Amino acid sequence: VLTGIAGLMSLALAACGGSSNGGSGGGGSQTVFKLAFNQTEEHPQYKAAVDFGKKLEEATDGRYSVRVYPNEQLGTQSDVVQNLSNGTVEMMYIGGPVMEGFNSDFIVYNLPYMFAGYDAQQQIFNDEELNKDLFTSIEGSKNITVLTALYAGVRNVYNSKHAVVTPSDLQGLKIRVQQSDSQVSMIESMGAIASPMGQGDVYSALQTGVLDGAENNETVYHQLKHDEVAKFYSFTKHLMIPDYLLISTKALEGMDDADREAFVGLVPELREEANTGFLEFAKESRAASESGGAQFNEDVDVDAFKALVQPMVESAVSANDVRKALYDAVQAANAAHPA
Ligand code: GCU
Repeated sequence: VLTGIAGLMSLALAACGGSSNGGSGGGGSQTVFKLAFNQTEEHPQYKAAVDFGKKLEEATDGRYSVRVYPNEQLGTQSDVVQNLSNGTVEMMYIGGPVMEGFNSDFIVYNLPYMFAGYDAQQQIFNDEELNKDLFTSIEGSKNITVLTALYAGVRNVYNSKHAVVTPSDLQGLKIRVQQSDSQVSMIESMGAIASPMGQGDVYSALQTGVLDGAENNETVYHQLKHDEVAKFYSFTKHLMIPDYLLISTKALEGMDDADREAFVGLVPELREEANTGFLEFAKESRAASESGGAQFNEDVDVDAFKALVQPMVESAVSANDVRKALYDAVQAANAAHPA
């Protein structure tokens, strides 16, 4: 009986998704997966998701497609992931730190100065065997499957007051971080006052002075117009955090074998398109911010910031064997691909 009801419900949900299709994919498919995204339609992750949906529709003869909801339309990442967990949203992109609320071992990939560079990080996320247990660790308990990890740039601090050169320049500044304990303790170790919040609230908080600044890559800084209200961007280079593409485990398991195989087979193409696009998007964003008058400061005492966060990194990675193994793998990748 239960399966019968669940089956009817998912048909009803699919029908709703299909009828509200607005051009981002999903027209006429029997099952339309809603994919939540917290940034704009210009972002390569958005475009890659739309393309993925089209290919999926073709590969499954119209049985499945994806409708992408940009601009936090479905809520902040920490709200949406709850809805994904309880089955009302099927897919989303999520920043790594938000995953720590479900399994704290995700922290390893969210720590400051963890990856030597893009290639080292890619080596880690190309390694399916290494990540298999982590990525499937909350399927049973939370209905969440991690499909892949995406490059999401290098994060730096920016604020409305002055360039940041040394840690003392961050003293007393209220800086927005992502909603996770690791991000709070990181920015506090770096000397600032942490203010965790969802992305959609950051612009107005900067504008009204509730926040002095935030920390993010050049794309968020420009595309979400933070460069208009916080002119000073400084290359602390403190983070290279992955984004994850998530799917509701039940939605994935609900596909028949051939459709699921097609679905999973298309994920590497999405990742490739999103990653390649991001590198270009970050350059364009920086150039646009600069011509709008934002000031980029390369002259940062990165070693001083590294030293301040070192104790939190050490205590996080030594907390258990799972973390130690992931950390060792990152060290090997860093040695193979130094900055
Ligand atoms: C980046 C990241 C997002 C994250 C955002 C944030 O853009 O790709 O996943 O949500 O930063 O700081 O909230």
